[in-house]
Amino acid sequence: MIYGAILAGGSGTRMHVSSMPKQFLLLKGKPIIIHTLEKMLACRRFHAVYLGIHPDWMSYMYDLLEKYDIDTPRVRLAPGGETRNDTIFRVIDEINRDYGANEDDIIVTHDAVRPFVTLRIIDENIDAAIEHGACDTVVRATDTIVCSEDGTVISEIPNREFMYQGQTPQSFKITLLKEAYAQLTKEEKEILTDACKICVIKNIPVKLVRGEVLNMKITTVNDYEIAEVIAGGISLD
Ligand code: CTP
Repeated sequence: MIYGAILAGGSGTRMHVSSMPKQFLLLKGKPIIIHTLEKMLACRRFHAVYLGIHPDWMSYMYDLLEKYDIDTPRVRLAPGGETRNDTIFRVIDEINRDYGANEDDIIVTHDAVRPFVTLRIIDENIDAAIEHGACDTVVRATDTIVCSEDGTVISEIPNREFMYQGQTPQSFKITLLKEAYAQLTKEEKEILTDACKICVIKNIPVKLVRGEVLNMKITTVNDYEIAEVIAGGISLD
């Protein structure tokens, strides 16, 4: 079976809004997480879409589902974890509890704060995860990527031709992801910044799926302002 996992266990510290995590802020009058959920639900290939919610915000999320009339057994909640990867594995635990673990199950993990994901990207993720076991959504780097290890001077400028920016979804065969994670050392687990890296460390090929520049992540207030413009449509007159 194919499952969606919307990752919403974070606190959004870089947004500097004290009232609530950024995934609950309104975009054109509707919470960002509801925009994202509606995009995922539009894909009929998902047996269920899980929301990995910060534990303090579970009842708030239940209220939102009611408010926005999202009343379907396809939507399920799981408490988020300490890190983004912890949230993914908490969702996987919940899937296993609800539906059992099957060899070919696929999970499509997606940031709650990327509300502009498209059906094409989701579909291509599912196809790639089925065929290759793991995939990442990326866009080609248009700016030159400059690497600085101390934050003051350049240590390296990698060849731009080979550079991409990672987005989400990131999708996996659940058994492959669990087995790869179980084989990591404590030190390797500590340096993980995203789920695809679990596969990369274990030399498991991760297929690239073409993303979209508009599939942006809302991280800062500036991103939020840009997202408002995108959600409202841009007039070039
Ligand atoms: N996320 C999660 N569980 C965590 C941490 C993050 O599910 N323990 C989710 C966030 O809710 C977000 C996505 O992962 O939808 C991308 O992470 P990021 O933009 O870093 O979100 P935050 O951790 O909330 O932001 P910040 O780093 O600014 O605190």
